Amino acid sequence: MGTLETIRSRPLLLLVAGAKGAIGSTLALAGCMMQRQPELISPYLTTADLWGDATDAQPVHMAGWDRNPMAMTEALASHRVVPETLWAGDREPLNAIPVAAAPNNGLSVSAQIDQLLRDIDGFRQISPDAQPVMVNLLPACMECALPHGDNGDNMTGGRFPDLAYARAAIRAGIPVVNFTPNDLGDGDLLATAAKKGIPLVGRDGKTGQTYFKVVLASAFKARHLRVDGWYSLNILGNADGRNLMDPDCARGKLANKTNLLDEILGYPVGEAYGEGAHKVHIDYYPPRGDAKEAWDVIDIKGLFGLPMSIRVNLQGRDSILAAPMALDLARWVVLLQAAGRGGAVPELGFYFKKPEGETPAATWEDQLRDLKALAAYCRQQLAS
Ligand SMILES: NC(=O)c1ccc[n+]([C@@H]2O[C@H](COP(=O)([O-])OP(=O)(O)OC[C@H]3O[C@@H](n4cnc5c(N)ncnc54)[C@H](O)[C@@H]3O)[C@@H](O)[C@H]2O)c1
Repeated sequence: MGTLETIRSRPLLLLVAGAKGAIGSTLALAGCMMQRQPELISPYLTTADLWGDATDAQPVHMAGWDRNPMAMTEALASHRVVPETLWAGDREPLNAIPVAAAPNNGLSVSAQIDQLLRDIDGFRQISPDAQPVMVNLLPACMECALPHGDNGDNMTGGRFPDLAYARAAIRAGIPVVNFTPNDLGDGDLLATAAKKGIPLVGRDGKTGQTYFKVVLASAFKARHLRVDGWYSLNILGNADGRNLMDPDCARGKLANKTNLLDEILGYPVGEAYGEGAHKVHIDYYPPRGDAKEAWDVIDIKGLFGLPMSIRVNLQGRDSILAAPMALDLARWVVLLQAAGRGGAVPELGFYFKKPEGETPAATWEDQLRDLKALAAYCRQQLAS
């Protein structure tokens, strides 16, 4: 099993589906910088606080898959997430990251899995002592759920690219972080992962507006301030934003962003009006690139039912918020696997808009409490 310290001293091997996307390429740079300038990475990891080692520099290796044939540095330049001055010194290691071609959409899911398993074998040989984690950063897609009773083996993988990656990982004994809103939709896979002791965590990283929404909604709930309505608008100009203009692709994401408010508060927002008054919109707006902007108009009621209103304007950076969370989650699942936890891990609800697993905590303080309890569990299981 190993102690916490021995596990933390071994390198991570991130196997990233969508390695050259906005988050994937930012993660690649963060991994390289972990060696050179850990002070630019470690302090921004939630796990640094939890494990009490804010200056640690656990080595991070990366490999993965993408459809995009361009070099990693070209991908970094094209996403305009990180200024070139920050990555110019890392051109060589960035472009040396092995990124295999994604399996052809026309192949059956099982043929895709075979190809991915061969790739995984090859990646593992490059970093034999590293601890591999599959990180799903594929684009948001239409419902990924398989029709009931269909194991997908004979269907082509075009509509369900995520499924082949997740299944290949579980078959290879590798934990999975599903950062996308895509529902792997496969209860069997979760059950297999649980049986084999392999964590499969997700879904939909809670990076910006929704994270602050959870914090604020939890605060309103604690003070018994009644939320009367909540209007949220996002503009973003990256590929994720363009993709989310397709209503079929956006449906899952919007549902994840919307449902959690009522779950936190314990009542449907808008009940006074007989209809929902929590509105969430996402608009693709090219000038913004990855520098997403979000507005929230929050109407609340206090004593005597008198109204008050709050404005929140977040000028964020999508992938700068997301990449450290993906790294955090990779560190978590490696420890959890070593500590004997497999399948869904609802205690990681802090990181996700739609946490997998039974009865994940809804409020921010409960999610933080769960996270700390999970850290204590790992520490106890992995005590020397
Ligand atoms: N940035 C955030 O704050 C945030 C928050 C929550 C969830 N997410 C989700 O994370 C995911 C990644 O976001 P992003 O901004 O990096 O997206 P992106 O579009 O920039 O990157 C996706 C990458 O996947 C590649 N790809 C497409 N099909 C593939 C396949 N079959 N196999 C391998 N690679 C393939 C694309 O070429 C691209 O490089 C999205 O699903 C997004 O909705 C992002």
